[in-house]
Amino acid sequence: MRAVVFTEFGPAGVMHVAEVDEPHAGPGQVRIAVRASGLSAGEVLLRSGTLRDAVPHTFPHRTGFDAAGVVDEVGAGVTGVAAGDEVFGMAPMTVRGTNADLAVLSAWAPKPAAWSWAEAGGAAGGAETAARVLDRLAVASGQTVLVNGAAGATGSIVVQFAAARGAVVIGTASEHNHDFLRGYGVLPATYGPGLPDRVRRIAPAGVDAVVDCAGGALPDLIAIAGDPARVVTIADFTAAAHGVHMSHGAPADETGQALGAGADPLAVHGLGIAVELAAAGRLSIPVAATFPLTEAAAAHELSETRHARGRIVLIR
Ligand SMILES: NC(=O)c1ccc[n+]([C@@H]2O[C@H](COP(=O)([O-])OP(=O)(O)OC[C@H]3O[C@@H](n4cnc5c(N)ncnc54)[C@H](OP(=O)(O)O)[C@@H]3O)[C@@H](O)[C@H]2O)c1
Repeated sequence: MRAVVFTEFGPAGVMHVAEVDEPHAGPGQVRIAVRASGLSAGEVLLRSGTLRDAVPHTFPHRTGFDAAGVVDEVGAGVTGVAAGDEVFGMAPMTVRGTNADLAVLSAWAPKPAAWSWAEAGGAAGGAETAARVLDRLAVASGQTVLVNGAAGATGSIVVQFAAARGAVVIGTASEHNHDFLRGYGVLPATYGPGLPDRVRRIAPAGVDAVVDCAGGALPDLIAIAGDPARVVTIADFTAAAHGVHMSHGAPADETGQALGAGADPLAVHGLGIAVELAAAGRLSIPVAATFPLTEAAAAHELSETRHARGRIVLIR
């Protein structure tokens, strides 16, 4: 089968499609014939070599963390899903490889009928991350939440999950994305110098929690929240120096503890939340652009602009 791989760190051009061995569903897993798969911004950093010391890797590295498609193999112990079912979900973190013809998923949910394959293919990563960070901050109805980087692949899901919890949501984006955010009921603010003043004008009573999906602004975000403990970042590697938690997900043991130093348990229940919200017409997955597998390098180049609005998706 075909899979997107890279065999050395470097620019986007190191990405290519290769013929590789088919994966098979192990216990607790399903295999899907992939229809669409997401491009992860983290994997762009991995491919460039930026994360080479932080993330274990072997070559060839198969890319892609989430996908949607049609189940064609069901592993031992799996119930409630059968060959032919349409699902979206996530690959095991250490395996990845969803940017391919076939992919193994370790967590999945039924594909909402309202979503296109492209939307479903890019949904799981954002849904898991949104549930994880909002759980960590215990965001609840009536609170005010600021999402920094709200128009991106992850931020656009975080704002919708926070609004569904009953929070008032402020989101930062470039001016041209403010109407896009208003469409989700989000109060938009422009990021950059002076952000605390702009947020204070929008929310004079203060902000209860901040989710940082962009990085580079932690002093301002802490000033806005009033306490580093009320800020969680998924994107700023200087977090520890500011006393801020940087959330990354890892599988949990039987007690619910994450199997990884400093990690939060993967919030796979976020997939179920996404299904419920989609059924209620309260969650859309903005797709910034789609590319065929053979143009994965162009997809990575678009991600590197850091201005894609929503998820970049590879279509089979
Ligand atoms: N730790 C985790 O679990 C986890 C999970 C998912 C993602 N991440 C990380 O989170 C980050 C975001 O991921 P993503 O997939 O959402 O990326 P993305 O889709 O590429 O994000 C693009 C968005 O970032 C915004 N942006 C660019 N510069 C900004 C700035 N200085 N301040 C605020 N917003 C800015 C852009 O807004 P405008 O176009 O409006 O300017 C654009 O909408 C990446 O670093 C990724 O690696 C981490």
